[in-house]
Order: sequence, then C-alpha cells, then structure tokens
Amino acid sequence: MNTVILPLPGNEVLANSLLMQPALPGPAVRGELAVRAFPDGETHLRLLSNVEGARVVLVATLDRPDAKLVPLLFAALLVRDYGAAEVGLLAPYLAYMRQDTRFNPGEGVTARYFAKLLSPHLDWLVTIDPHLHRIAALDQVYDCPARVVHAAPAIAEWIATEVPMPILIGPDGESEQWVAEVAALARVPYTVLGKVRHGDRLVEVSSPDMAQLVGRTPVLVDDIVSTAHTMAETLLHLRQMGAKPAVCIAVHAIFAEDAAGMLASSGAARVVSCNTVSHPSNEIALERWMAEAIREACASSPRMRQVD
Ligand code: R5P
Repeated sequence: MNTVILPLPGNEVLANSLLMQPALPGPAVRGELAVRAFPDGETHLRLLSNVEGARVVLVATLDRPDAKLVPLLFAALLVRDYGAAEVGLLAPYLAYMRQDTRFNPGEGVTARYFAKLLSPHLDWLVTIDPHLHRIAALDQVYDCPARVVHAAPAIAEWIATEVPMPILIGPDGESEQWVAEVAALARVPYTVLGKVRHGDRLVEVSSPDMAQLVGRTPVLVDDIVSTAHTMAETLLHLRQMGAKPAVCIAVHAIFAEDAAGMLASSGAARVVSCNTVSHPSNEIALERWMAEAIREACASSPRMRQVD
C-alpha cells in the first residue's frame, strides 16, 4: 500500500524530512493539499494528490489548535471521500491534554472533548510526549489506537553532547516523568521542584537545594513552555542562589505571548526545544522516532489488517 504524507499548512518542512526517514512504511510520497479561507472565513480545501487505496498520514501539529481543527477534520473526511484506505494522524503536539480535570465548577474536561472530536476520523494517532497527568494513557480518552513517542532519548543525547556536568531540574511534579527518564538515559543527577499554579500567568515554584548545584550546569526540563512563567520562576531562584546560568529544554515550544523574552530576561543561558512545534529554539530533531512510530501504528492498524 502506498503511503501519502499529507501536511496541513505549516507542517511541510516536517513532512519533507519525514519522507527521508528509512523507517517510514513505503513506498511513501508527499501529498499536496491546498487550504485557504473563503472571504467569509470558512475553510476551502482542495486535494491535489491521488489517495485512492493509499494510507494517508496527515501531519498536523496542534498548538493553537482551534483554528487548525476544522481544516484537519475536513482533510480527514476529504481523503476518505477520495478513497484513502487508511487515515492516520501525526500530531507532534497534541492540544488540550492539560485540561484533564474540572479545576473549577462549570468547567469541562476538554482533553476528552478534543479526543471525541478527532478519534472517529482516525485509524490511528501518533504524538510526542502528550501531557499525561490525571489522564494516565491516551486510550483513556482517544478511541482510535494511539502511540506515544518519547523525546527523552533525543534530549538525553543532546545534553550529553552539549552540556558538561549537568544537573537536570524538573520544575514540578508532573515533569518528573520526563526529567527522570532523561536523567537515567544521560546518566546525570536530577531534582524535581514543587509548583503551585494560581492562574494562567501566576505560578510559585520552590527553590532547588544549592548543595546539588555546586559545580554543575542546571538544565531545566519540562514538556511544555507556554507562557514560560514556570521556567522563568525557576530561573530566578537559580540566579538568586548564584547557580551557573541555566539551559532550558522543552519538548513542545508553545511560546505564548512573550515567553522568549521572559526566559532571556530571567537569565536563561540557552533555550532549546524539540521540533514538535516549529520555533527558532528547535534543536532536537525527532523525525527518526516519529517515522518508527508511524510504521508501528500502520502495522497494527485494524484497517490495515482488514486490507491485508
Ligand atoms: C504543566 O504542568 C506543564 O508541564 C508545564 O509546566 C506548563 O504547561 C508550563 O506552562 P507555562 O510555560 O505557561 O508556565
């Protein structure tokens, strides 16, 4: 079965580099989808590639998701209309996973709602380190098979090459899952701080223990930098304690508002991210792992088994 890699707008670079990965199930070709807005704001899609009988891999990272959702759902429906035999989604960043409970009365668990919108249209989903916290696994919310790629091996490799004598710092309990894995792979020490969130832009982070930092470069590791308040608070503690200038690593560089400016003014020596959301800080490339996960997802796809 042919594989058609079909990027939604903004995902073309990633789609092209995926195509160069030997792990991708082949023969694989690049598909073209033209997306534009009508003058009234509605979405116009036009499929420019043949997908008849093919496996289509939609590539759409889902930061700033609301505007991306309608084109993505339409694209999934469109390729089925034109005879795609299998439709999978590579969403390097999966949105809404942090809204995994009702924090206040009247709120909805939008992680679930988002999953309900996407799942019926997909034979499988591949994503990178979704924010799994109160929802322990994607199959608790997604009805289609979902595969998670961990960025930890690539991050550990990057740290081993770039940072002498590091100590990893997770700014909150939720980050421990990522920090502990990276630390084990890089064989370096780590510590996890405590965080209390009072609002979208107001967080309190506890101070690290200075004794652990002596002679080491602090490396802050978190899954997401959004407003950057979490990392900035941690950086300020480190600066006040006289620690060495810190490196900040995020899997997903959401960088809302002036996140980059805030990290720079809080004393970050270097800010680095994985290429799940396109951003100037992308230094850690994950295509190899994405392609392997796509291959595994395709091999175990119920639709694939049916076709075979
Ligand atoms: C939440 O627990 C996440 O792991 C991140 O720590 C959080 O989303 C970062 O948000 P912000 O950059 O807005 O502080």
